[in-house]
This record gives sequence, C-alpha cells and structure tokens, in this order.
Amino acid sequence: MAIVPALKTSKQLPSEEEIINTRFIILISMVAALGGLLFGFDTAIISGAIPYITPYFRLDGYSLGWAVSSILIGCAVGAMMAGLLADKYGRRLTLIICAVLFALSGLGSGLASNFTLFVLFRLIGGLGVGAAAMISPMYIAETAPASLRGTLVALYQLAIVLGILLAYFSNYLFEGAGENNWRYMFISQLVPSFLFLVMLLFVPETPRWLVKKGFKQEALLILTKISGSVAANQEIEEIDNTFKREKDSGLKLLFSKTYRPVLFIGILIAVFQQVTGINSILYYAPVIFKETGLSTASSLLQTIGIGVVNVIATFIAIGLVDKVGRKKFLLSGSLIMGMSLMAIAFCFHFRYFDNYVVLGFMLLYVGAFGCTLGAVTWVYLSEIFPNQVRGIAMSVATLALWLADFVVTYTFPVMTRQLGTSNTLFCYAVFCLIAFIYMIFKVPETKGRSLEEIESIFIK
Ligand code: GLC
Repeated sequence: MAIVPALKTSKQLPSEEEIINTRFIILISMVAALGGLLFGFDTAIISGAIPYITPYFRLDGYSLGWAVSSILIGCAVGAMMAGLLADKYGRRLTLIICAVLFALSGLGSGLASNFTLFVLFRLIGGLGVGAAAMISPMYIAETAPASLRGTLVALYQLAIVLGILLAYFSNYLFEGAGENNWRYMFISQLVPSFLFLVMLLFVPETPRWLVKKGFKQEALLILTKISGSVAANQEIEEIDNTFKREKDSGLKLLFSKTYRPVLFIGILIAVFQQVTGINSILYYAPVIFKETGLSTASSLLQTIGIGVVNVIATFIAIGLVDKVGRKKFLLSGSLIMGMSLMAIAFCFHFRYFDNYVVLGFMLLYVGAFGCTLGAVTWVYLSEIFPNQVRGIAMSVATLALWLADFVVTYTFPVMTRQLGTSNTLFCYAVFCLIAFIYMIFKVPETKGRSLEEIESIFIK
C-alpha cells in the first residue's frame, strides 16, 4: 500500500518524494517493536512466579531480592555491549541475538533444577532485555521517514506495556496448572521469542547502518522502497555527509567535545524518565493502595486499572507525538506528573483516603506518564544522537536509564520506611519540577525533522 500524506484531490498529484510505503514501514517497525514486548514480558513474568519459586528454591528475603533483580544486572551489561555489537555487526543481527537470548532465558529459567541455574538464565534474559531496549527503538528511528518516526518509535513503548499485560495474563493462565505452574510461566516466553526470531529473518538492515558500512546501494534500495527514488537519493547523500565529518569512532569520539553535550542531554532525559518515580508506582502500587486501608484484593484490582490506563495512554502518545511534538509532551507530562504526585503526597500526609482520591491521582500520574515521558523518552533517545555515534550513545543513555531504574525501585521501600510515603513521593515530585525546568531550556524540538537535520541542531 503506497499512500500519499496530505493528498486531498486528484489534481494534487504526488511528487515522487512524497510517496511513503506506509504498510512496509509499519510492518518492519512492528517486528522491531516486538523487542519491547519481550522486554515487558521478561521483566513482569517474575511477579506471578514469586509465590511459587520462593518455597521451591527455599528463598529467604535476600535470595528472593536477587531472583527478582538479577535481570537488571544482565540488562546493564546487555545495554553496554549492544551498542558496540550493533555498530559492528548491524542492528538486525543484534536483534536476532536478543531473540535467541530471550528464548534461552525462558526455557532455562523454566527448566532450572537449582537456584544458581535459575539466576543464570534470568541474567541471560537481562542481556536480551538490555540490548533490545536500545536496539529496537534505534532500528525504527533509523528506518522510518521523519514524518512518522515519533509514531513508529512510540509503538515500541506500546509493545513494552502490552508485554507487561501479557505476562500478567500468562501468569493468571498458568496459576492453577499445578506444582510446575511457575515453570510454564517462564517457558511461555518461548512463544513471543520464536515469533520475534522468525519475523526478524524477513526485515532488512537499517539504511543508516548500511551507509556507515559502505553498502550505499543496498541502503538506497531500502530507502527507495520506503519513500520513492527521489527522496531516497537525497536522503542517501545527507546520511553519507554525516559520516564524512568524522573518521574517528567509538567511546573516544562519543566523549569528545563535539558529542558530549548531546550525550549529556540524552543521559538526563533517560534518568528523568526514571527518577520521576514511574517504576516505584508501577511495582509497588498494591503496597501503596494497601496503606490507604484497602484489602489485598481491591489493591490488586486497582493495580490492574493502572496497567490498563498505561496502555490507553500509550495509544494517545502514538496518535499525537508527531503532531504535537516532543517538547510540549515532555513539559506537560512532567508538570502533570509532579502535580499528581504532590496531591498523593498531601493525601498521605493528612491521611485523607476518601472517595478514591488516591486512585484518581495515581491514574492521572500514570496516564500522564504513558502519554508523555513513557513513549517520548524512547522516541527522543532514538533520534537525537548523530549517525556517527548513535549505537554507542544509545548504549550509554540506556545504561543510565537502567541504573536509575535500579536505584529508584531498590530505594523505594527504604525511603518509605525512613521518610514515609508522603515525603518519598514528594521527592519524585521535586524531580518532576527539575526535569520540567531543564527541558524548558535544554531540550530542542525534533518533530518532523530528518535525523540528519536533527544532527545539525545538536552538533555545531
Ligand atoms: C518505560 C520505562 C520503563 C517502564 C515503562 C512503563 O518504557 O522505560 O522503565 O517500566 O515505561 O510503562
């Protein structure tokens, strides 16, 4: 299906460069986005297995913490290595490796006969999650036409939240399956992993990586299939020029004076997505609700509501990110999230828990995150780094994101015990304010621009 954006009447015939093969680009973006589905699935599946692996492996508090968080260590290592692999061997091949790691992790954790093996296979899954978390959005950004890039990368965030829901569903499905139920929960990961692996065999490498490696003709073919030959020829020239600028590569280049400022922006955007508290709310929602006096069952029910709002909000982001723009979204998101957190903090401070008011503000907070920082962070990270250093820069920024995620979710229980829930949420609200102020001054709009135009904003 070749469609022409904004073509209203037969008199306005499309010039060749306006033709975008929407079906093709959506299909290949959806395949890459499956990396996000496995990321969400692999991180959330453990929640349903905890009650069963705890007695089976005779876990105490310490080893249970290790069972849950070992994946994050794998993620950090995966994120570090993936940039180098993706630059050297290509985005597609690295994604194929991720699919194999996901499958190995599901199978190995499900069949593990002892705790060491179980943790080892969770670590292997983490390598895949960490790598896919940066390669999937990068793959989409490097292939999509500028006018659709935000929407298509936001598909990746949708895949993450759907992966989380799918894992909850799979946990629910296998819960009553007898003493091996937790094994089936992990093994069920083989289905999306296998699907991802097979589909990856049919998608092309990204045109920008191909140009980088000197395969201009192959890149031209793909770009022509996406946007028509006139636009493709022009784009190839622009991409090629960005590689002529620097002959150096790797970490040395990334930390050079030219690229340091954009790297700094990327790291901060990644860290802001986490220190504004989303994963504390998502992981500990039942605990927070229980503190307001609800029963366990109602707390879990309200938590499902939060998951559903996150999915709906991501659909809104997909529909609007290329129309409204990144900056407006990031600013309004941090503002609404900060205000909602303050409201919840006040409720906890004054012990005001009537009329679902805490639930209402939690939904507002998660909804605001889903529409804005959730999807837009991945969109922004995938497009701000120059062609020359994108792989390695994405690695460093995603590593910062994982570390921030780890620190925030690890410290939440301690913070609530020491400072109280109210003050802990207030701290996240302060980070929302800092993020808001930083973004007003330091975050340029990137909507509708080609990756090479964006490069010229950041690199003077
Ligand atoms: C984003 C975050 C991730 C979070 C998810 C929740 O993808 O990077 O940490 O769990 O949103 O929707």
